[in-house]
Amino acid sequence: MATDLRTINIRKEFVSPDQTSKTVVAVNDVNLNIEKGKLVTLLGPSGCGKTTLLRLIAGFEEPSAGDIYFGERRVNNDAPNVRNSAMVFQSYAIFPHLNVFDNVAFGLKLKNLRQHEVKKRVEQVLELVDLTGMAKRAPSQLSGGQQQRVALARCIVMEPRLLLFDEPLSNLDAKLREQMRVEIRDLQQRLGITSVYVTHDQIEAMSISDEIVIMNSGVVEQIASPQEVYAKPNSRFVADFIGKANFIPAKVHDKNTAEISDIKLPLKETIQLPPPIRRSRWWRVLKR
Ligand SMILES: Nc1ncnc2c1ncn2[C@@H]1O[C@H](COP(=O)(O)OP(=O)(O)OP(=O)(O)O)[C@@H](O)[C@H]1O
Ligand SMILES: [Mg+2]
Repeated sequence: MATDLRTINIRKEFVSPDQTSKTVVAVNDVNLNIEKGKLVTLLGPSGCGKTTLLRLIAGFEEPSAGDIYFGERRVNNDAPNVRNSAMVFQSYAIFPHLNVFDNVAFGLKLKNLRQHEVKKRVEQVLELVDLTGMAKRAPSQLSGGQQQRVALARCIVMEPRLLLFDEPLSNLDAKLREQMRVEIRDLQQRLGITSVYVTHDQIEAMSISDEIVIMNSGVVEQIASPQEVYAKPNSRFVADFIGKANFIPAKVHDKNTAEISDIKLPLKETIQLPPPIRRSRWWRVLKR
């Protein structure tokens, strides 16, 4: 399938805010290849560079080095509005003084579309996000989940080529978060819009992604499907971050056997042995 979004050795350095001469490398030589219609999650601890990478893709930040391609087009010098991506934020960022309809219609009106065209497209999208009948409501009359749907509708109505989500569900309670992530995934698949979704919630990433990009201190640790990241983490960091793992000291005898507290155990396929196999290292055993 065609690559829709590509970053090549993308890097972002910030001048340290505390006035020292040091720079902060927020994103360090990141290479992404995202196929059309896929939802890829950027997952990692606070400060690992997720938001910065998303902002680089959207065009809100300029890379210190590297290239970004949307399809065949190098977009480094394209302004955010030209890139035609849409971002959903944690804080919803909907206009409090506009009702639901006007919030969703905002971008379309800027494009000078005819009134009946705006009405038709807004109504279609409100139906899509299950907000039909709420067009006249003010944001303050909506629940958190409904407000986030307005934010989503406002993005989708512009028919972006790329949807970017920055922790869109963090402000919602656990139950609503679960429901909304199913809705977002369902909508994304129905519309087939290539999406990059930032979260630091492992379960959220596991449940909605085609692929997960695990980041640590600005660097990509692993890119793989949710199943692979869980079953075959390529580093201790990934194993520790992605799930409930126990780390038990073990001696590895050969590729079939490990010894834990004098007991020899067969190594299961799910236990990854990064080459070269060395003795007396710490090996990871998944909790069962
Ligand atoms: N404008 C800036 N100036 C200086 N440093 C910055 C700036 N923006 C981000 N950083 C630094 O870059 C690093 C990555 O920040 P970023 O916001 O991308 O992390 P994140 O993974 O989104 O974290 P979180 O999960 O907390 O949102 C951090 O060390 C942060 O302090
Ligand atoms: Mg962030």
